[in-house]
Amino acid sequence: MTDSIIKEEIISSSNKISSYNIIVLKTVNSTNSYSKELAKNNATHETVVIADKQTEGRGRLDREFFSPEGTGIYISILLKPDKISLSPSLLTVAAGVAVCRTINSISKNTPTIKWVNDIFIGGKKVCGILAESTTDTKSNTINNIIVGIGLNVTTPSNVFPGKLGEIAGSLFPENTTRNEIIVKIIEEFKNIYDFYDKESLVEEYKSYSCVLDKKISFTKCGETFVGIATDINIEGNLIVELDSGKTITLKSGEVSLGSANFAR
Ligand code: BTN
Repeated sequence: MTDSIIKEEIISSSNKISSYNIIVLKTVNSTNSYSKELAKNNATHETVVIADKQTEGRGRLDREFFSPEGTGIYISILLKPDKISLSPSLLTVAAGVAVCRTINSISKNTPTIKWVNDIFIGGKKVCGILAESTTDTKSNTINNIIVGIGLNVTTPSNVFPGKLGEIAGSLFPENTTRNEIIVKIIEEFKNIYDFYDKESLVEEYKSYSCVLDKKISFTKCGETFVGIATDINIEGNLIVELDSGKTITLKSGEVSLGSANFAR
């Protein structure tokens, strides 16, 4: 079965996503970077860039996101903050939930989310999400949000370079094409940012979390902290009760499960 990403197939298989302006590219440096360029040239709300391969795929904390040809899904969805009901800070949470719903609908494997937005199956990271924004310099307000989603679909474990092979995995869905997965993700995502309320979204996000009630560690200003992740609040922030007895609210960053840095 060929599994090419085909724009016509994506568009014709769902009328729920007819408002999207879908752009499919064979190769791009990064779909997020490409979307930022489109944003400079007045790209409209719900412009979606999808690539078969990225040469400079980016992750959070300036990491590379390995994006080989033909075996992954690399999508960026550009949104205008004034056209959505959900607060921009929860869009990354919404994307995580959309991907988990998609995985549940096409695979027997159970996805979990490591806060903020790494999605794991069976201890391996299969998906990462990178939300970025652009600011209008005159009004100093956010005028574009770009939600980038990278999902390893059929990338064999021996293809991931170096140490990434120990951390990353793939979805390996049965009888589902990348086009079908793309449609499902963007349908679910749109459903959430158009109709879902904050409380239900965060509750659903929490149901996928693999860090809640677990011992975690994180680094802040060069210092390592250890504690129990007790909750995720309505803004998607992680609440941690530190071993020192203090409670801390994490708005961004990265946590590791356990007291050592072994989750990545
Ligand atoms: C992470 O794991 O830290 C986030 C990875 C996000 C990767 C996606 S792939 C599509 C979009 N384009 C990029 O360059 N990055 C995001």
